[in-house]
Amino acid sequence: MVFKYQSTTPTWLYQQPALTTTTLLALQKELKKLFFVTKKFCLVPYTSTYMEFHDISVVSKICPQLIGELHRLGLHLKLIAFISVVIDRNFPAHVDVSSDIALNIPLINCKGTHTVWYDGNIIQKEAEDYLIGAESARNARESDPHSLIEIGRCDADIPHWINVNILHRPETSHNQLRVAASMRFDPEPLDEYGNLWPHLIK
Ligand SMILES: [Fe+2]
Repeated sequence: MVFKYQSTTPTWLYQQPALTTTTLLALQKELKKLFFVTKKFCLVPYTSTYMEFHDISVVSKICPQLIGELHRLGLHLKLIAFISVVIDRNFPAHVDVSSDIALNIPLINCKGTHTVWYDGNIIQKEAEDYLIGAESARNARESDPHSLIEIGRCDADIPHWINVNILHRPETSHNQLRVAASMRFDPEPLDEYGNLWPHLIK
């Protein structure tokens, strides 16, 4: 049995969202704008960093099509995270704790990058400063690196619903800053068995 943070955490690792190419391109354009507008709120320069943005009124102004699409899908946005990674700073495998799942959208230099999942153990450990783009990043639980066994990976250059309460990390193979947006929802769009609402997946 693979380690999951809590009983509600699904057993699936990733699934493809039901987003058309046209919608995806429009959402990426808006989310890139949001990334640049909110960059000043990141507590550290973006390297291998987790940042969170909670002000949904600002998101509504900058990303009107995104808000419309989420409303159409019956999703209630809790926050948007920006997850960056560079090759020379380790982004450790972790569980996010506060959400079970996320909708990840590639934004910048995501080709050649993956989300990778592991089985393993969590440990009590302070996160490296460069990871802390928002105070909430301290809530994540890191893994014991010696315990990790890869159990799956997906191409981070295409959107995915991802499981964030099974140990995971972003991995890059190139030397540019890579950025993805990661949306979290409240309530989470899962049924009592941990299955995503059927209209959300391909
Ligand atoms: Fe995560």
